[in-house]
Amino acid sequence: MNTVVIGTQWGDEGKGKIVDLLTEGADCVVRYQGGHNAGHTVVIKGEKYVLHLIPSGIMHKGRICLIGSGAVIDPKALFNEIDMLTKRGIDLKGRIFVSDSAHVIMPYHQALDILTEKAKKGKKIGTTGLGIGPAYTDKYARTGIRIGDLFDKDGFEERLDLNLNMKNFLLRKMYLHPGFSKKKIMDEYMGYAKRMKEIACDISLLLNNFMNDGKNIIFEGAQGTMLDIDWGTYPYVTSSNSTIGGLFTGLGIDPRKIDRIMGIAKAYTTRVGEGPMLTEFPSGMQEVMRDEGKEFGATTGRPRRCGWFDAVVVRYAVRINGINEICLTKLDILDKLKKIKVCTGYRYKNKILKEFPSQMGVLLRSKPVYEEVPGWEESLVGKKFYHELPENAKKYIKKIEELVGVKVSLISVGEGREQSIDKD
Ligand code: GDP
Ligand code: IMO
Ligand code: MG
Repeated sequence: MNTVVIGTQWGDEGKGKIVDLLTEGADCVVRYQGGHNAGHTVVIKGEKYVLHLIPSGIMHKGRICLIGSGAVIDPKALFNEIDMLTKRGIDLKGRIFVSDSAHVIMPYHQALDILTEKAKKGKKIGTTGLGIGPAYTDKYARTGIRIGDLFDKDGFEERLDLNLNMKNFLLRKMYLHPGFSKKKIMDEYMGYAKRMKEIACDISLLLNNFMNDGKNIIFEGAQGTMLDIDWGTYPYVTSSNSTIGGLFTGLGIDPRKIDRIMGIAKAYTTRVGEGPMLTEFPSGMQEVMRDEGKEFGATTGRPRRCGWFDAVVVRYAVRINGINEICLTKLDILDKLKKIKVCTGYRYKNKILKEFPSQMGVLLRSKPVYEEVPGWEESLVGKKFYHELPENAKKYIKKIEELVGVKVSLISVGEGREQSIDKD
């Protein structure tokens, strides 16, 4: 069984927890896009791990974890993460491999990310500041440096020269930044080469062999549908395809071999960074729910913006990704509410839109239309079976199923692995 786990909102839906849960029945877990902008939390027996680049299946002994060509890799961040996990007693030997054609995040990428954001003043995107956008920009400009380039010193130096000529000019003239020394970067990155060589691979070949051998694979999306470069709330998005297409371009596998596409949806909505989010709570409620849901970014620690469940968004994610089932997370965070609102459409001028608008101008002029349902006002923590859920919680789940058009198969009621309810 090959399962895709994909975010249906603006990221942080709880993908990490669910990937960890599903890894029990898998042999291999694969990240296919994004970089260490992701922050995926796994909680095992009360112990919390935040993963940025390493797939969230790593806590399960013996499972192989892969990072695909569609990802961008900061070697320093990758090795720090590997070392952190090793220190915490997780044996990673022979279990982690990265694509040799993934692009490398260079020091000037991070500098440019931070400086361009600053220059945008009131128009900033609110990036994680980790160099993700500039690394993808170089990929598409065909000036990027790939993991495999680290193993050819002369070739690497040539590509670095080309880049530093342009980047240092831009940094110095436009941003009054001192620029970067070639020697320093050469020393640092050639220092990563030896360690990287041990884990670099031809990801397409490896994965296709795994699939032919009948191994069970989980594909772990990073970010979420609304942060996708093509299908998200552009320009307030990340720089990769976080929707299903990114899996295929990022891994080079047979699309017909995917069995299950699971969308992860939080029982409400959150977003970190700038950009429209129609169902955002008013202040007061905003802070209460943020505290209740511990909604602070796993990567940057920034407070997440919180709002009601937006069925227009999740229905759109179902369409864009071919999602056939939903895992509803953080349902427990709504425990105390007397009434719960669900956004069923957008009011634009005198029309009600049922589909997510493709034009930013329309989205910005739309207002959410809500339906109100009664809360359950009791704790879901400790519930193990669907039949134990209060009637109003079941009704809320049913309402979501009706609105988004696919069934909810899995319900999460706590951060721990075991706090999950298999609805089927
Ligand atoms: P990801 O980026 O999609 O993997 O999500 P994050 O890890 O960034 O954010 C989800 C947060 O919610 C993490 O702190 C998880 O431990 C936590 N979490 C996940 N599922 C649940 C749940 O059902 N209930 C509660 N209370 N917390 C959850
Ligand atoms: P996970 O995988 C939530 C957001 C940033 C910013 C925008 C662009 O944990 O769900 P970037 O640094 O990617 O150029 O920033 O995207 N963003 C995320 N928000 N969860 C994430 O990942 C995110 N990765 C990027 O906050 O708004
Ligand atoms: Mg996250």
